[in-house]
Amino acid sequence: MTNSDFKWDTKRLQFDTVIKPFESEDEELNDFLLNDAKHYLVQRLAVTYLIENETDTIAYFCLSNDTVQRSMADKAGWKRVRKHIPNAKLRSSYPAVKIGRLAVSKKYVSSGFGKLMIQIVWRIFVSDTQQTGCRFITVDAYRNATDFYIRNRFDFLTGEDESDKTRLMYFDLNNISL
Ligand SMILES: CC(C)(COP(=O)(O)OP(=O)(O)OC[C@H]1O[C@@H](n2cnc3c(N)ncnc32)[C@H](O)[C@@H]1OP(=O)(O)O)[C@@H](O)C(=O)NCCC(=O)NCCS
Repeated sequence: MTNSDFKWDTKRLQFDTVIKPFESEDEELNDFLLNDAKHYLVQRLAVTYLIENETDTIAYFCLSNDTVQRSMADKAGWKRVRKHIPNAKLRSSYPAVKIGRLAVSKKYVSSGFGKLMIQIVWRIFVSDTQQTGCRFITVDAYRNATDFYIRNRFDFLTGEDESDKTRLMYFDLNNISL
C-alpha cells in the first residue's frame, strides 16, 4: 500500500483540535502528541502538523526555528554545509527549521507517509510566500531512523555524535526544485 491508496488530510494542530488515536512504535513520540503538543503550541516552542483520516492520526511532525552553526559541525561537515553557498554569503551560522518530532502510526508505516512529511516541510519552506529566510532543515535523528533521513537526502553534521542516542542531521533546502 502507498499513501495514494488512502484518503488523508493534513492540518496544523490547534488548541481545540481533537487528536485522533495515534500509536507509533515509539512511546515517547506517542506521549508527546497526546499530552504535550498543545502546550508546545501555546508556549510557541513548536508547531505540530497532523496527517489524519476519518478515524486515525496517521502521522505527525513538529517544527521549530533553528540555526546551523559552525560549532555544531566537524570540519568535513561544515565544509559540506557551505559547499553550495556563494563565498560572499559565507558566515558562521545559517537559518534553519528543526523537525523536533516525526512519527508514523504502526498501522501506516512503509506506505510513504514519512517521505510525504519531509516533502510537506519542503513545501512550507520553499514557497513564494515564505516569510523569512530558511536554508536548512535539521533533525536530531534517532539511531534507528538515520537511514530513513539518508534516503531522504539528509547528511550528518558531525562524526562526533556517532555513538550518541541521536545524531544531528541536516538537509539543504536549495537541493530541491518543486
Ligand atoms: C522512521 C519512520 C518515520 C519512517 O516512516 P515511513 O512512513 O515508514 O517511511 P516511508 O514509507 O515514507 O519510507 C521512505 C523511504 O525511507 C525508507 N525507510 C523507512 N524507514 C526506514 C528506516 N527505519 N531505515 C531505513 N530506511 C527506512 C523506505 O524504505 C523508503 O525508501 P525509498 O524511498 O527508497 O522507497 C517511521 O518508521 C516511524 O515513525 N518510526 C518510529 C518513530 C521514529 O523513529 N521517528 C523518527 C524520529 S527522529
